[in-house]
Amino acid sequence: MSILVTGGTGYIGSHTVVELLNKGYDVVIVDNLCNSKLEVLNRIFKITGKTPRFYKVDVRYEEELRPIFEKEKITDIIHFAGLKSVGESVKFPELYEENNVGSSKVLLKLMSEFKVHNLVFSSSATVYGVPKHVPLMEDDPVGGCTNPYGQTKLDIEYLLKDYAKEHKDANIAILRYFNPIGAHQSGLIGEDPQGIPNNLMPYITQVAVGKREFLNVWGNDYHTIDGTGVRDYIHVLDLADGHLAALRKLAEKPGLVIYNLGTGRGTSVLELVAAFEKASGVKIKYVIGPRRSGDVDENYADVTKAKREMNWESKYNIEDACRDSWRWQKNNPNGYDE
Ligand code: NAD
Ligand code: UFG
Repeated sequence: MSILVTGGTGYIGSHTVVELLNKGYDVVIVDNLCNSKLEVLNRIFKITGKTPRFYKVDVRYEEELRPIFEKEKITDIIHFAGLKSVGESVKFPELYEENNVGSSKVLLKLMSEFKVHNLVFSSSATVYGVPKHVPLMEDDPVGGCTNPYGQTKLDIEYLLKDYAKEHKDANIAILRYFNPIGAHQSGLIGEDPQGIPNNLMPYITQVAVGKREFLNVWGNDYHTIDGTGVRDYIHVLDLADGHLAALRKLAEKPGLVIYNLGTGRGTSVLELVAAFEKASGVKIKYVIGPRRSGDVDENYADVTKAKREMNWESKYNIEDACRDSWRWQKNNPNGYDE
């Protein structure tokens, strides 16, 4: 009875692995370390006193993944492995297709062959494209993705739907994450972006720690409370907990289910900056810049379905998440590199 976690040394994966180990699950991680470090495993041990079994495997390659299915008694899979940079996906769309969609196909093939019935998949609010209204509900239209990364998430959702039609014993939870931020309260694991961060929170924390001079606020002429973009920032520990809720749901054999994982509340860029300053006591210098291409005014989740069907809801607020992101960054100014 083991949970296979692909991409388990990554940001969301590592936090989910900690929650799984704390709840007594047996965890097997596969990751090719293209965007994470082995040091994560030491940190997981420091937090939980346990080390998950780890295999350096590229999920795209069946011959690398097959031995894990042969060796381990996998009952459930959480599939985090994927590339996630929107900008990079515009430059290298084929790589994103091959890595994200290709690896999901390999995983499904082995799932079918080894009769593993339960899968949780990391999707994204990006599949809703440009929202016609907020909050976004799970049965709102998807498509019109503004970048190749988003398109891979949508393509994988379609793959999973086809798979569920052909495999009546499959139980699949598609989780559409909104904007994950925060870190484990130990300050031992967190988000460790390589190079210049694309996302708002790691950029803010790098300004706070002195690695970047100022934050560029991408546009202040949106139709929002203060003109800056509004998003649904969810603490990564709430997100991790959402995966455990999804595993419990899959045990009820629901077939294919889809849930938004967000807080249901929107926060603007400047509100997040203010919350971070309050939580950290550090002033964040910022400059208003032009809009970033592909960005939308507002994006936040309707979370009633996850509450109703999984009894899951977020517990942390953005101040908690800012405090925890800051602790991680302050304790690890260079991420996992000593
Ligand atoms: P991350 O980059 O920290 O983690 C992804 C992990 O997958 C990394 O450890 C990487 O090394 C690994 N990986 C990538 N391709 C692989 C492959 N072919 N074989 C084996 N391992 C591979 O990213 P994250 O923020 O933890 O995101 C996890 C998942 O959630 C991704 O699928 C991402 O698209 C999705 N998601 C993330 C966000 C976000 O803002 N962080 C939002 C919505 C959805
Ligand atoms: N922003 C800035 N300055 C920055 C970075 C971001 O002003 O340096 C603004 C953006 O314009 C946006 C907000 O902060 O208004 C959030 O931007 P992020 O890049 O942090 O997040 P996005 O909502 O653009 O995208 C994130 C993930 C995607 C995922 C999407 C799903 O990065 O992978 O959420 O909703 F698809």
